[in-house]
Amino acid sequence: MAQITAPKGTQDILPKESGRWQKAESIMRELCAQYGFKEIRTPVFEHTEVFVRGVGETTDVVTKEMYTFEDKGGRSVTLRPEGTAGIVRSFVENGLFNEALPTKLFYMIQCFRYEKPQKGRLREFHQFGLELFGAPDPIADATIISLPYRLFKKVGLEGISLELNSIGCKECRAKYREALIAYFQKDEEQLCPTCRERLQKNPMRILDCKSEICRGIAKDAPLITDYLCGDCSEHFEAVKEYLSIMKIDYRVNPRIVRGLDYYNRTVFEFVSDQIGAQGTVCGGGRYDGMTEQFGGAPQPGIGFAMGMERFMLVLEQAGINLEEDNGCDLFLIPLGDRACKEAVRIADELLDRGVRVQYDLLRRSVKAQMKYADKIGAARTMVLGDSELDEGAATIKNMADGSQKKVALNELQEEFEQ
Ligand code: HAM
Repeated sequence: MAQITAPKGTQDILPKESGRWQKAESIMRELCAQYGFKEIRTPVFEHTEVFVRGVGETTDVVTKEMYTFEDKGGRSVTLRPEGTAGIVRSFVENGLFNEALPTKLFYMIQCFRYEKPQKGRLREFHQFGLELFGAPDPIADATIISLPYRLFKKVGLEGISLELNSIGCKECRAKYREALIAYFQKDEEQLCPTCRERLQKNPMRILDCKSEICRGIAKDAPLITDYLCGDCSEHFEAVKEYLSIMKIDYRVNPRIVRGLDYYNRTVFEFVSDQIGAQGTVCGGGRYDGMTEQFGGAPQPGIGFAMGMERFMLVLEQAGINLEEDNGCDLFLIPLGDRACKEAVRIADELLDRGVRVQYDLLRRSVKAQMKYADKIGAARTMVLGDSELDEGAATIKNMADGSQKKVALNELQEEFEQ
């Protein structure tokens, strides 16, 4: 029969890579614990409305990239293209604002976007992200930005630059919108069909267009930073000041508008130039007012999400190996029936004590078992044959230096006590 392959834009994370993923995730979990963020797990699919309302009707994500389908009950559901909208839905629905504020949440999730796959861009991908509710102050913006920064530092990644912008509030954006429309109208005929549509609906999206012609036209477009109101300017300045106190380098990039509609004020991206066209490892920003769109009371929000696949790519590119130590402390090499039973008994006791012990399952020769033990990186091996069982003692071999040590079988446990 013909083989079945994985769907386009998806990838298997095989055992030889999953150790690195686990290690990365455990560093992220540790950092979240240090900062006081707790994990939230929301459904992989939501009512489609969650993303239409949350992410925004005119965004590429909603118009082109969602995996939307009708379930057997005739409801329109969507595989989450990102984490924030579902978390805001959950925050409001579960009344998390009644607990101690600010609410500090993190997540590690799968997301789905029907995009054209390329390096660093998949249809199923993973995000590690944070969402913080209830903190309007710029100190929160800088704190959120500091976590990915600290993560990069912790794993020894250099050269990932922080691009920062403020896209103001509704008032600043209303004025900016007028300026943008006036600017782009001059060249309306030359814009791509999507951007022509965007011109009245959401002109800021034009700044995000990938088409060469639109990018050329957008080159001299007015900058949002020139349209910030007093409060937004002050907020932005304070974020920058906190970042300086934290010794976090940044570059103000007024071109960053982000691909999702819910942002206001601070937006940011961490970008690498080492992994090709899809270099944005992490993106985020403030989204005050989003809780109201989900029928909740107003609560400010801010967060980011990091693409796990892109994070793994930058690590690989930098030659940083986060291999988790999933090794084997002892590999038992039993020869014959009697020894197999003894191996199982010994392993049973050691496993209960937390020792990572394995034994042969295939009744192979000593040589073949040794070779296997070497392949899986066993630290020590022990051959169990009739003579060892009669004597009640066996030889433990240290695989790294070849040294040997005879140990009584009933004293094995002490050997593995830390
Ligand atoms: P986003 O910029 O759409 O923001 O995605 C965040 C990150 O997810 C990107 O920087 C990228 O690393 C990764 N990513 C996005 N699409 C793909 C893809 N097709 N394949 C691989 N990786 C991808 C958000 O999703 C917001 N929810 C972030 C946020 C949280 N803002 C506030 N809170």
